[in-house]
Formats: sequence, structure tokens, C-alpha cells
Amino acid sequence: MTSNTPQPVTFKPSGPLSGEISVPGDKSISHRALILSALAVGKSRISGLLEGEDVLATAAALRAMGARIEKKDDIWTVYGVGVGGLMQPGNALDMGNSGTSTRLLMGLIASHGISATFVGDASLSKRPMGRVIDPLSEMGADIQARETSDHKSCLPLTVRGLCPAIPIEYRLPVASAQVKSAILLAGLNTPGITRIIEPVLTRDHSETMLKGFGADISVETDADGCRIISLTGETELQPQKIKVPGDPSSAAFMVVAALIVPGSDIIIENVGINPTRAGLFGILQQMGGDIRFLKKRTVGGEPVADIHAKHSSLSGIDVPADIAPSMIDEFPILFVAAALASGETTTRGLHELRVKESDRLSQMAKGLEALGVKLTEKDDGLLIEGSGGKPLSEGKARPAIETALDHRIAMSFAVAAMVTKSGLTIDDVTPVQTSFPGFQDLMMTLAS
Ligand code: S3P
Repeated sequence: MTSNTPQPVTFKPSGPLSGEISVPGDKSISHRALILSALAVGKSRISGLLEGEDVLATAAALRAMGARIEKKDDIWTVYGVGVGGLMQPGNALDMGNSGTSTRLLMGLIASHGISATFVGDASLSKRPMGRVIDPLSEMGADIQARETSDHKSCLPLTVRGLCPAIPIEYRLPVASAQVKSAILLAGLNTPGITRIIEPVLTRDHSETMLKGFGADISVETDADGCRIISLTGETELQPQKIKVPGDPSSAAFMVVAALIVPGSDIIIENVGINPTRAGLFGILQQMGGDIRFLKKRTVGGEPVADIHAKHSSLSGIDVPADIAPSMIDEFPILFVAAALASGETTTRGLHELRVKESDRLSQMAKGLEALGVKLTEKDDGLLIEGSGGKPLSEGKARPAIETALDHRIAMSFAVAAMVTKSGLTIDDVTPVQTSFPGFQDLMMTLAS
């Protein structure tokens, strides 16, 4: 788990970035690869798994519930216990910083005849869990959570599963792949049809991977444009060989760095470009970013490409609210690109950003303002007046930029530092380990 000792780092301005790199495996796919493999009957093999702290928290929890998980020569082997076969964990499950581990595993446990207590770090312990508690309680799970003074249900919490659970039809009140996935995972060990109505499309890795593992799942679109996902349980999953593509959410930092640092020209190999995840790249192209997708191919059911990005003069843009789910994790780094563009960038419909690893609207606004960026923070978005490519001034950024235990805030400001006059200090880089081990080394490779 993330070390409790903050590690401040000063990031320097950068010369042109160049070279070919690859980024670590996709975080969302890595969690799901471990979870579904742990539920299959037999041995699955996973290559390219992200070995960040979030995914390792999922692996540790699955081990604590009886799955054997081993790593040799970069291949992870998972010996699944079969759907319904999870065992009672002996201790509380430590989820560290990981909302995805927490919400997906809550779903998994909800339809098993076991109970588990979830604990996490200070950031995770503030995040709302009511969004998964509601549907899982309808399915019969008994969930006791800490209630906060502002009436949120948070960690620590205990899930007592019900087996057999009750299949539900559930309309997602919030555009969240974690909530969708928690219900689907609960549905695997629930007799009958679990149905989810998804008014706004979110990342679809769970549906794609469940199909790949042999689950009885179908996806249709109704007359109102809502996706209807139907999963028939109880089901048996077949073990798989999975190749995890590079994470577009990690590649995003390198792509924006190349666009804003003069003279840059880089290639990032083997990046997932699933349309439910790749919204940022299209927005950057509309801002004038020179981004090309090379060697487009399909790997394990996911679209993948090598991404070629070059320094570009960016122009501000009005980002439509409906694109948010396909780039929900990329707004912090988009705000950095906007800060260097010419003209104004407007964003809206981003209430969800306030309940991520930190309140990302407020953390980004504070940090960018300290760098002299003119902006307005609205309830649901930021309006940013770009510098037109002029280096940001780090004048007011002492003391260090606050990352609030948020990996994406830390990496966004590490990229912003590349176009400051004399660099900037970030109060703590340890959260980067949750999703992007090797981030600093990779940036150094590109800069040298
Ligand atoms: C994720 C879904 C998103 C995203 C998170 C990973 C997933 O969260 O922000 O980093 O793997 O399902 P929400 O479901 O809360 O939008």
C-alpha cells in the first residue's frame, strides 16, 4: 500500500521529448482480469498486468479469499475457485487508495455466503460508497458502512453477502463503470437475470471480458438509447489467456507532455484506444494536437494502436458534457493542456470529478492558479484561459503543489512542470505508484 511518508519531488522544465516507449498495463482491465480469472474454473494466464498498488490490492484480496495467484517471468497465473467458490477472508481487506478494487470486490462478495470488512487510506475513506451499497442491498447483501456528518456512506464498511442473492433490474443513477461492474459481478453467482439499464455509456471492459470468459451476457440498446445489459447467473467461467494493453489513461500524460513541450516527437506503443476510454485523444486533436494512431489492431477484444504525438500549437475548446465518461480520468491532464493553449477552454458536467481520489476540480484549480493560470472554478467544471504556449510562472507555487493522495494530480503537475520557467515542487509523489510505477523514469527516458 501507499507509504505514509510523503515524498516531495521537484520537477524541472524539460527540453524536447523523443523516443518510443510503452506504458504499463491498463488498470481497469488488470483488475477485471484478476477478478474474472479468480472466478473461472482452472488456470488463467495474464500478460501485461499493471503491477501498480491498486491492482496489487485486488490480487491480495482475491488471495485472501482463496484464489492462488502467482507471478513468473512477467506472466501472472491465476488458479480460479469457480463462481460461488470464494472463501471467508481471515482479516479486513486493505484496499489502499483503490476505489475500483473496493467497489468491484464489494459486488463480488455480495452474492457469496461470506462477509468482508473493507478498509482504505485517507483518500479512499472519504469516497462515497452509497452508489454500490444501494443496488447490492437490493440484491440482499447486508452492508454496514461508516456514515459521515454530511450523510455519506464510507469506508470502513462490512459486506455480508447473501447466497443465493436476488436478481435485480437496476437503472444506473450515476454514469459509473464501477457501479455497473459491481452489479454484474454480484449477478454472476445470482440465479436468474440481473439487468442493468445504462443511460450513459461508460467503459465497457466488464461486458467484453465477461463475454470472453463465457458468461451468458447480452447488450442491447432500447428506443431511448439506453444500453440494457442482461446477465444470466449462476454461471461457470472458462479460464483465459489475457493480454492487457497499455493504459490510455497513463499514455495521456506522455501525449500531453509531447504536445506542450516544444520540439517533442514521441511514439507510445501498444495503447488501448477503446472508444469508451479514448475521449481525451479526440479532444486534443480538435484543439490542434498532432496525434496519430499507427498500426491499429485488436488484442484480446480491445482496440489497440501505437500513438504518435508531436509538439503542437493548441487552441482552447468547449468540451461537451456528454464526452466526460469516455475521458473521466483524463480531465486533470486536459486542464494542463488547456493552460498552455491559446484562448479559453470550458468544461462542464464534471460533478463526478469531485469524488475521485481527490476533489479534482478544486485540486487542479488551486495548483494551476498557483502557476499563474487564469481560471474560474464552477460547480461542475473549470474555465481556463490558456497562456498561448508561454511557460507557466511558478511564482506563487511555494510551498509545494498539493496532491491530496491523488496519483493523477501528481502526474498532471509533473507534466506542467516541464513548461515552467524553473520547475515546480510536488508535495508527494508516492500516490503515483497506485497506477503508474516507473512514471518518472519513463519521463526521463523521453527527455534525455
Ligand atoms: C473505473 C471506472 C471509473 C474510473 C476509475 C476506473 C473502472 O470510475 O474513474 O479510475 O475501472 O471501472 P467510476 O465508475 O466511478 O466513474
